[in-house]
Amino acid sequence: DGDVFKYYAQGHWNKSSSGKFVPIINPTTRKTHFKVQACTQKEVNRVMESAKTAQKSWAKTPLWKRAELLHKAAAILKEHKAPIAECLVKEIAKPAKDAVTEVIRSGDLVSYCAEEGVRILGEGKFLVSDSFPGNERTKYCLTSKIPLGVVLAIPPFNYPVNLAVSKIAPALIAGNSIVLKPPTQGAVAALHMVHCFHLAGFPEGLISCVTGKGSEIGDFLTMHPGVNCISFTGGDTGIAISKKAGMVPLQMELGGKDACIVLEDADLDLAAANIVKGGFSYSGQRCTAVKVALVMESVANTLVKKINDKIAKLTVGPPEIDSDVTPVVTESSANFIEGLVMDAKEKGATFCQEYVREGNLIWPLLLDNVRPDMRIAWEEPFGPVLPVIRINSVEEGIHHCNASNFGLQGCVFTRDINKAMLISDAMETGTVQINSAPARGPDHFPFQGLKDSGIGSQGIANSINMMTKVKTTIINLP
Ligand code: G3P
Repeated sequence: DGDVFKYYAQGHWNKSSSGKFVPIINPTTRKTHFKVQACTQKEVNRVMESAKTAQKSWAKTPLWKRAELLHKAAAILKEHKAPIAECLVKEIAKPAKDAVTEVIRSGDLVSYCAEEGVRILGEGKFLVSDSFPGNERTKYCLTSKIPLGVVLAIPPFNYPVNLAVSKIAPALIAGNSIVLKPPTQGAVAALHMVHCFHLAGFPEGLISCVTGKGSEIGDFLTMHPGVNCISFTGGDTGIAISKKAGMVPLQMELGGKDACIVLEDADLDLAAANIVKGGFSYSGQRCTAVKVALVMESVANTLVKKINDKIAKLTVGPPEIDSDVTPVVTESSANFIEGLVMDAKEKGATFCQEYVREGNLIWPLLLDNVRPDMRIAWEEPFGPVLPVIRINSVEEGIHHCNASNFGLQGCVFTRDINKAMLISDAMETGTVQINSAPARGPDHFPFQGLKDSGIGSQGIANSINMMTKVKTTIINLP
């Protein structure tokens, strides 16, 4: 009942002394597909020790050599795209084609990071003292960027490979070491990705990947005194982590309730296509999914019809055959989604399709005439269910968007660029997309959430900078 995988530490593949495993349930079959080691706190301590030691010499490794190894890892990652994608299909029910895309995108991210890193880290500043009142030109200040130390990377289930390398690559190019705690669903894909870094020949201990139960090693990792930076993507756990973490820089990307505002003058075909893609791709399990459509009443009937026509064409089924909508990641996730749907039903939302669920598979559902008293108006289902709220003014739409505790991305559909800019300024989100659905990529764009959606900014350059500290040396002239 499932292949057993080892964890990666000190440059080797290891069995945990716990003798225990964490099962990975295939969301489609709902049977155990893989098992990973349930690592102990003692093993985490050892990993932290070796990460600390390895980092010291890695920081002294020439930048171009670090970049060279990252390029090598990127190439190996791409060569291994098929088996890694296969894991993503079985562990998180990602449609097969999207799974391959995730791995290729990850290889590109690693390469881009190596290139960007040599430039960002390859230059510093030179300041002179006499620009500040009261000073003569007697001090020369040189700045450079130094690594933070050990970076703890915690990616989520929806991109176990891409959102792992988006933390690993900037950390490594900047001279840090990495301790990776992959999500349970997606752990084997992550281990396979780590294997590619192993094959590239990174020094022992520089990269570790510990698997296990959150209850056993979760807090232990995030509160570990050996950790110098935490980069986390996921849900509410991030808020708990940020309250407990020590005095270390945090990079957090948490939930979102990305709103799509559709004005009267919008290209409704374009809006409908983006709402369906944004709302239902990977079954809505993206923090940047369109999670609420705020549509001007005058165009709502036409738009809802266009959306429903497109929903009718979505295929629903297993990920192996590239179905558009696949089973959601766990049974508890499906139950949570169902709870939101039932709440909307009781409170009188219009069901554009019948609610259908088989196991973890939920058919795409558009809920029209959603009102603010319904949970679905505010909570993120992380599933293929999308609410439409009809609005009578742009202000009403902006008000709904800004009343959310989340502030990741948002989008606006209009042909009037001036209006779009004003709306973008008014929306309290990290990013606003004009005439397209929210999305994190391309991966070198800054990516950040306001409010409960996160801390700091990601994107390749921002992550490299975030994982460094400025060091200054001042030459004092007589
Ligand atoms: O849910 C994770 C978030 O980073 C989404 O990424 O590429 O689907 O917009 P993407």
